[in-house]
Amino acid sequence: MSIVAVVGNKGGTGKTTLSLNLAAGLGRRGSVVIVDADPQQSAYQWRLIGDENMALPAVVAAAFGLEKTVRALRDVHDHVVIDCPPSIKAPQTEHALRLADHALIPLQPSPMDLWATSHLARIIEQIRPENPRLRALIVMSQMEPRTTLSRLMPDAVAELDLPVARTSLQRRSIHRLCVLEGRSVFQAGRRGAAAAAEINDLIAEIFDHDNASQEHASQEHL
Ligand SMILES: Nc1ncnc2c1ncn2[C@@H]1O[C@H](COP(=O)(O)OP(=O)(O)O)[C@@H](O)[C@H]1O
Ligand SMILES: [Mg+2]
Repeated sequence: MSIVAVVGNKGGTGKTTLSLNLAAGLGRRGSVVIVDADPQQSAYQWRLIGDENMALPAVVAAAFGLEKTVRALRDVHDHVVIDCPPSIKAPQTEHALRLADHALIPLQPSPMDLWATSHLARIIEQIRPENPRLRALIVMSQMEPRTTLSRLMPDAVAELDLPVARTSLQRRSIHRLCVLEGRSVFQAGRRGAAAAAEINDLIAEIFDHDNASQEHASQEHL
């Protein structure tokens, strides 16, 4: 069982896009549900336009009563992905961080996004006494490898005092098209293959590491 909160302090960084696709990828490993904690309800809207016959994760809208909803869902699903509103001060973000095993923070290659994120490490440290399990990870998102900003980002991000995922997500138009069509990149055939591979890499980086360290811990126990 795992709870992943996708958080950030700005709109447009790719939180919802990552939540949907991460959940779609996790759905291939076990049962998954998306909790839409953003009052704007973009994830919920996406699910409404999606084809009922497509194997898409369910989305539960829970901007209010979030903690209760997540506690109930985590008992029946292998994975719960919480799509948070664009503010680290929003109560939904705080509640999600209190419950989560992983906080993923998508970050675009832009100075403004970097500045908006500068307090996040402190907020996560404040939550840690209540939730010592929480692991936070910045995910570079909407990267354009040939641009100067994208090249400068790794050094700039190091100042945020938060670990950065090895896997970064590139800017790909298929992401926008998929949202428009109510699907995930896993349902986009060859056009979505590169984007889906990135999501799978990110999942492996987060969860296979978890399994490896659990195995290691249980071996140490023997
Ligand atoms: N990797 C990506 N490549 C291309 N477009 C993206 C990518 N991630 C997000 N987008 C687009 O950027 C915009 C903002 O993304 P969204 O997921 O809604 O961000 P947030 O939830 O943080 O506000 C949307 O139009 C979305 O389709
Ligand atoms: Mg969003």
